[in-house]
Amino acid sequence: MERPVWAGPEIDLDRPSAARIYDAHLGGFHNFQVDREAAAKIAAFMPELPDILRANRSFLRRAVRELIDLGVTQFLDLGSGIPTVGNVHEIAWKANPDCRIVYVDLDPVAVSHSRAILGGIGQATALRGDLRRPKDILSNPETQRLLDFSQPIAVLMFAVLHFVPDEDDPAGIIRQYLDATVPGSYLAISHASLEGSEPEKAQEATQQFRRSVTEFSMRTRAEITGLFDGLDLIDPGVVYLPEWRPDPGDEIGDPRRASTFAGVARKRG
Ligand SMILES: C[S@@+](CC[C@H](N)C(=O)[O-])C[C@H]1O[C@@H](n2cnc3c(N)ncnc32)[C@H](O)[C@@H]1O
Repeated sequence: MERPVWAGPEIDLDRPSAARIYDAHLGGFHNFQVDREAAAKIAAFMPELPDILRANRSFLRRAVRELIDLGVTQFLDLGSGIPTVGNVHEIAWKANPDCRIVYVDLDPVAVSHSRAILGGIGQATALRGDLRRPKDILSNPETQRLLDFSQPIAVLMFAVLHFVPDEDDPAGIIRQYLDATVPGSYLAISHASLEGSEPEKAQEATQQFRRSVTEFSMRTRAEITGLFDGLDLIDPGVVYLPEWRPDPGDEIGDPRRASTFAGVARKRG
């Protein structure tokens, strides 16, 4: 197939990527045939997946808004994805134009498209990096330029930790980010789980994802709650996505259909 101008030579057009599959499910335009085929195969096992991904974006919107209400002005968005409608900087700047945002993603399309959208705006940047290497992300000159580590920072990990297997120690990775922040900082997570309304279907979709794209580790609610250890969860704790401070219209029927848990917690002072 012909290479679009936004896809540099480092991008393998024949291999699906998690970021572009997500974009395809959300109806975005930064995906290839191979991603759309993988998306269709996964949705065949889990037809509600596009609804779940939209519910995840709605949680992202509500969480960022709440964090701004709590006084946060700095965001480190790990596994930020291909920009679509309602990105962190759009939500944040609507509420407070002084907010600063560092986006990080492994996927070159996600990073190049984020950079294109941000243009030369100095208050936000997008880095290509692996969140499993906190030292590299935290010491990156762009992170250091934009984020003031003497002030609270919200570390965002939306729909990304299920790509980090247990052997990579997700709790240890989180700790390294939080250790770099001051008390009053926050951690926000959304994370896929088999504890939804249809665990068998979710299990099949997981296997399909593993076969065609990448590692995928569903976790239980207790395991996801454990990722917040040592922090103070804000109300309503770790709940299904649509149950986290919903706005009117955010309901998707039985909240267990979301098969994804969400929570926001504060670092103790
Ligand atoms: C499902 S998307 C979520 C995007 C966005 N956070 C959201 O919730 O809408 C997951 C993103 O995480 C990225 N990702 C997966 N593993 C990663 C890693 N180890 N480091 C950085 N990004 C990663 C993928 O490339 C993809 O863009």
